[in-house]
Amino acid sequence: MAHRIGVIGGDGIGPEIVAQAVKVMRAAGVDFEEVTFDLGADRYALDGHVLDDADLERIRACDAILKGPLGPPIGDTVVPPGTVERGIILRLRFDLDQYINLRPFHGNGLDFVVIRENTEGSYAGEGGFLRKGTPHEIATQGSVNTRMGVERCVRYAFELAMTRPRRHLTLVHKTNVLTFAGDLWQRTFNEVKAEYPEVETAYNHIDAACIYMVEDAQRYDVIVTDNLFGDILTDLAGAVSGGVGFAGTGNLNPDRTAPSMFEPVHGSAHDSLGTDRVNASSQILSAAMLLEFLGEAEAGARIRKALDDVQSSNPTPNTIGDLVAERV
Ligand code: IPM
Ligand code: MN
Repeated sequence: MAHRIGVIGGDGIGPEIVAQAVKVMRAAGVDFEEVTFDLGADRYALDGHVLDDADLERIRACDAILKGPLGPPIGDTVVPPGTVERGIILRLRFDLDQYINLRPFHGNGLDFVVIRENTEGSYAGEGGFLRKGTPHEIATQGSVNTRMGVERCVRYAFELAMTRPRRHLTLVHKTNVLTFAGDLWQRTFNEVKAEYPEVETAYNHIDAACIYMVEDAQRYDVIVTDNLFGDILTDLAGAVSGGVGFAGTGNLNPDRTAPSMFEPVHGSAHDSLGTDRVNASSQILSAAMLLEFLGEAEAGARIRKALDDVQSSNPTPNTIGDLVAERV
């Protein structure tokens, strides 16, 4: 049966790289129906629309979502900060319970995966203002960590580590300073670890992990960390493994109670729009991850292989989509 794939083109280079990824999926012979959604900063600037309940209902009816990068250009004054981020991206991740943010990194001889908790932490939206606009103004932004949320994420990471040859898992946090959240993460990690004696484990503080990422990323196999540390560490991971333009993301609902969503790690890169630097690799890789999640392992593998072959010939970035579609 044809898959129903929700497609969000997004902003900046988004629509262009999403079109390339859709073309590649078609060329790979995958049978799917496209359900398109006009969402993002451009749409907001046009008529003020952000993701609403009706959009969410249509999205829930899809098997998976292929999402381009969303966001206004740097320096934009029309779209208030958070409109697209909280109003669309995080709402999708939270409402669809996509609690695993899976980011694999290959390139420069590296091969590791970051599992970022995707529904809690300082992204949860806890906090607020008191006495806003006065000299005594207070702003708080709490980090929300539930035993259930941490445990399901940590467990996913152990299961993933079990499928990889090295069977190595590193917890990254800041337990020496964040003594409440860090304690919950560390205790949960230790308890779940007891169920996986074959997995070798390590712990790094986030600041040290940044050094290792730059100087010795070979040490990593699977990393598990919270939402904010994971956001920052995966930009760095992208940079050391060949560029963030080559990194894809799965926002996974492993229980399959709602669709999962696949998107690049990078942003909308308005400054690259219309140049030969536009590179659809991250979006094509995200499409391969989507297909694999839907059980199309063979098509996913063919797309990865075609992408690898094309990349190794060092093409002009904006020709990659066409070259992969020809080869797949
Ligand atoms: C990412 C992005 C998002 C995040 C933003 C755009 C909300 O940076 O997917 O890493 O912070 O998670
Ligand atoms: Mn990010």
